[in-house]
Amino acid sequence: MTAVIEIPSIDHAAIRLQAEKVVPPAPISADERETLLSRIKQLLKAQDAVLVAHYYTDSDLQILAEETGGFVSDSLDMARFGHEHPAKTLIVAGVRFMGETAKILNPEKRVLMPTLEAECSLDLSCPADEFTRFCDEHPDHTVVVYANTSAEVKARADWVVTSSIASKVIKHLAEKGEQIIWGPDRYLGSYVEHLAGADMLIWPGSCIVHEQFKAKELEVMRSLHPDAMVLVHPESPAEIIAQADAVGSTTQLINAVKNSDAEKFIVATDNGIFYKMQQAAPHKTLMEAPNAGIGATCQSCAHCPWMAMNSLQNLASTLESGTNEIHINPNIREKALIPVQRMLDFAAGLN
Ligand code: 13P
Ligand code: SF4
Repeated sequence: MTAVIEIPSIDHAAIRLQAEKVVPPAPISADERETLLSRIKQLLKAQDAVLVAHYYTDSDLQILAEETGGFVSDSLDMARFGHEHPAKTLIVAGVRFMGETAKILNPEKRVLMPTLEAECSLDLSCPADEFTRFCDEHPDHTVVVYANTSAEVKARADWVVTSSIASKVIKHLAEKGEQIIWGPDRYLGSYVEHLAGADMLIWPGSCIVHEQFKAKELEVMRSLHPDAMVLVHPESPAEIIAQADAVGSTTQLINAVKNSDAEKFIVATDNGIFYKMQQAAPHKTLMEAPNAGIGATCQSCAHCPWMAMNSLQNLASTLESGTNEIHINPNIREKALIPVQRMLDFAAGLN
């Protein structure tokens, strides 16, 4: 049933190369770290700002967010928290689409990011003009886009979804008999299409981190650790998802570690999540699922280079200078708000 469409102009190799060229933040000493932390804490207070961080960011940022009344979560809850928190300024540590989603929901707030250069390969693989053209050619289809997209792409969509809610939304639409254009994650798209028995045209984007997990090597690892539970983020290829004991968003995978009886886990997602998983279950054993194989030189082996761009250094300078503010054209923002709000309303209806 799966129909992953071809868009010849999307240069996946160039996107991968762009990821490989990302320069990670310079290491800092323990003294520098302490100085930065106390400066950032003062600045957050003085500017009525709250820090919202994704699980894949550096553990220093996750700890800081929680210590200062901010929040660490998956992309759906990042959006919800930012929307509900009264602070005048939101600092979003993650990748650019996360800052844009915060601004779409909170036009009256100042939204800053430690860096505006933190891309996402899914966003890069879905240029708004190409995507709009494709949607216009299929006017009878409902357009569902993953949150990992630009504000312009969201503005062309009927629904925005994150990994924690995608299958429920697609099931809801499939039950109404709707034909769907899904963009841009081909693997998550195929996964939810099968789960929901939906009729979908799937954009050919992929996550440079999750597509690196290797099925054959995972089989070997499972045979070496038969008691380990396999946890998989649905941005991974089908052969990886097929070996999972649990598939879910980052929050759902952390909850699986916390709530299951297993003592050992093989984890197929970004290893930034290990900080929270280990905190949730300190005595349990966590292992990275095999990615590019022995001797590989990839920079995105189980760690997103763009997420890794967020650091204490650039967070401090953003707060000091007020740069790296997210701005979205008001017309685009108003259009993008409709499918984002639809997702939040749908999520609220599930609780
Ligand atoms: P979550 O919504 O599961 O946090 O995923 C976001 C993401 O970018 C995963 O690669
Ligand atoms: Fe995008 Fe993949 Fe990085 Fe998530 S891990 S932000 S999907 S490139």
